[in-house]
Amino acid sequence: MIIAVDGPAGSGKSTIAAAVADRLAISHVDTGAMYRALALKLLRSDLPPEDEAGVASVLAETDISLGNGHVLLDGEDVEGLIRTPEVTAASSRVAEHQAVRTWMVDRQRRVVHRAPGGAVVEGRDIGTVVLPDADLKVYLTASEERRAHRRSAQRGATESEALQEVSSRDTRDMTRRYSPLRPAEDAVVIDTTDLSIDEVVESVLKAMRERLEP
Ligand code: DC
Repeated sequence: MIIAVDGPAGSGKSTIAAAVADRLAISHVDTGAMYRALALKLLRSDLPPEDEAGVASVLAETDISLGNGHVLLDGEDVEGLIRTPEVTAASSRVAEHQAVRTWMVDRQRRVVHRAPGGAVVEGRDIGTVVLPDADLKVYLTASEERRAHRRSAQRGATESEALQEVSSRDTRDMTRRYSPLRPAEDAVVIDTTDLSIDEVVESVLKAMRERLEP
């Protein structure tokens, strides 16, 4: 059972993917954490994420893996270091390079294929590029205001800072040249603006049952 969950920042991907994975007793794979780990490495080496050649040479000597809900960067557990505003902005920038995307997609597929029983995999290009054969593709959306509100509550930023962050990151993620964020043609689109977590989880599970029915 492979469920792809895509959507913009603050649409509820992480919460919903974790809850659905829990209900189905399968793995939750957070692909954004891998882009964030790479962004952290670049920031630590003072390398601008826009520097494509520099990023490619860093990639050649980088190992990023996922396990137990934590991301490991060259063996170091960096889960607690990758949600800062600096890493967040750099992760979206570094995700624009084709070489980075190819590198990530390859690793992400291996993680998912090793997961016993399947996985709920969240990101931006899961249904469109990483796992086009997923059993179910979900695309979560929500109004920009609601997404900014959720972000500010999670990260302790003001609403206007969060709105600015969400809006500029989504524009970049949706308009980039390679694997832009968009719903897969066969995705179930769920607007989470006025739904509770339980309601969204139930919608995903219902969509999954419908897909599985002969
Ligand atoms: O899901 P997130 O906010 O942790 O992701 C951080 C950034 O990583 C996001 O702005 C774009 C990039 N990303 C991506 O391009 N493709 C993915 N599958 C996951 C994340």
